[in-house]
Amino acid sequence: MSTISFHGWSRRYAPDVERVVELVREIGESDEHILKSRVAALEDEVAAATGAGHAVGCASGTGALTLILSALGLNAGDEVVTPAFSFISSASTIALAGARPVFADVDEHTGTLDPVAAEAAVGSATRALLPAHLFSCAADMAALRRLSDAHDLRLVEDSAVSFGATVNHKPAGTLGDAGVFSFFPGKPLGGIGDAGMVITDDGDLALTVRMLRNHGQRPGQRFLHERVGFNCRMDELSAGFLLEALKDHAAVLEARRERAQWYEERLRPLSPDVVPPPADFAGRAVYTYVVRATRRAELRKHLAERGIETVIYYPRPLHLQPVFAHLGYREGEFPVAERLSRENVALPLRPDLSRDDIDRVADAIHEFYGARA
Ligand SMILES: Cc1ncc(COP(=O)(O)O)c(C=O)c1O
Repeated sequence: MSTISFHGWSRRYAPDVERVVELVREIGESDEHILKSRVAALEDEVAAATGAGHAVGCASGTGALTLILSALGLNAGDEVVTPAFSFISSASTIALAGARPVFADVDEHTGTLDPVAAEAAVGSATRALLPAHLFSCAADMAALRRLSDAHDLRLVEDSAVSFGATVNHKPAGTLGDAGVFSFFPGKPLGGIGDAGMVITDDGDLALTVRMLRNHGQRPGQRFLHERVGFNCRMDELSAGFLLEALKDHAAVLEARRERAQWYEERLRPLSPDVVPPPADFAGRAVYTYVVRATRRAELRKHLAERGIETVIYYPRPLHLQPVFAHLGYREGEFPVAERLSRENVALPLRPDLSRDDIDRVADAIHEFYGARA
């Protein structure tokens, strides 16, 4: 029985090997290693693809969020409202920028920041909202924009996982004051290592982000440090690889959407034992396919015994992470976030999986819940 691996990295990168070798040679023989022409070209491509006024390449999605939040000039005591259920960066970067993450529960269908809960979390110390799109579902940016406008808050869009998606008919990343992309290999546009990008229409913010990514130096002015910055730069190998990957990004996204649709057809009948993500994948960047499942641990064991790898995103909500224990949140405070942490399970969704592979996963899930479809 062959294994259906979750990531299938070696398969995925196999067609790129020659290109990577060629790129390493090109870069090795040039004097362009970091923040040079390929990074600038990638920034231009991302700005053009999203319509953003400015795109600033950096070392990771986490770095991109850190740069934006640092550029906003948050102070100790300032608060930023963020979902209780997300990847750690949506909250850790707030703390890294010197402010306090304030958690709010998420919507049970999309798993993203619930605008009503967010509103209840806004107080006199709130400076910004930081919603995150997750697993191809977008946060309700229209409601969150209304909320941020009403309270004069900055709106930072954690669109790390959404390159190539549209939200309310606009490119993801362009609905807040600034957005980010992660090019971690598992993301919709996956790189050869860690890399990220900030996009914004705010020229002052973009300049500050550019300075902060490179030790607080103004572009073109070395060894004059106007701010306490970071080393959060993008290298030329990452940028060169991503420029190439961009060429078939649309086709890869389409292949993933098609596979998500196959799962939808097979798994929807199993609801409520298995609750698939909201249907209609048009315009969504489906980098992973996450369902809610009862008896999750047993289901995963059943699938593993049949050679099917699954992953849990994420087993513990942010407010219950040890690193935030000092903030004083308690279990039971954000029931939806806690439930998603208990029930979520991600199924393999590689673009190279065949209809038979997806059927094999779906058959095994039907077998587990004692039904056939
Ligand atoms: C919602 C979200 N935000 C931010 C990040 C951070 O991106 P990176 O891994 O490139 O630092 C991730 C990565 O998983 C993410 O899922």
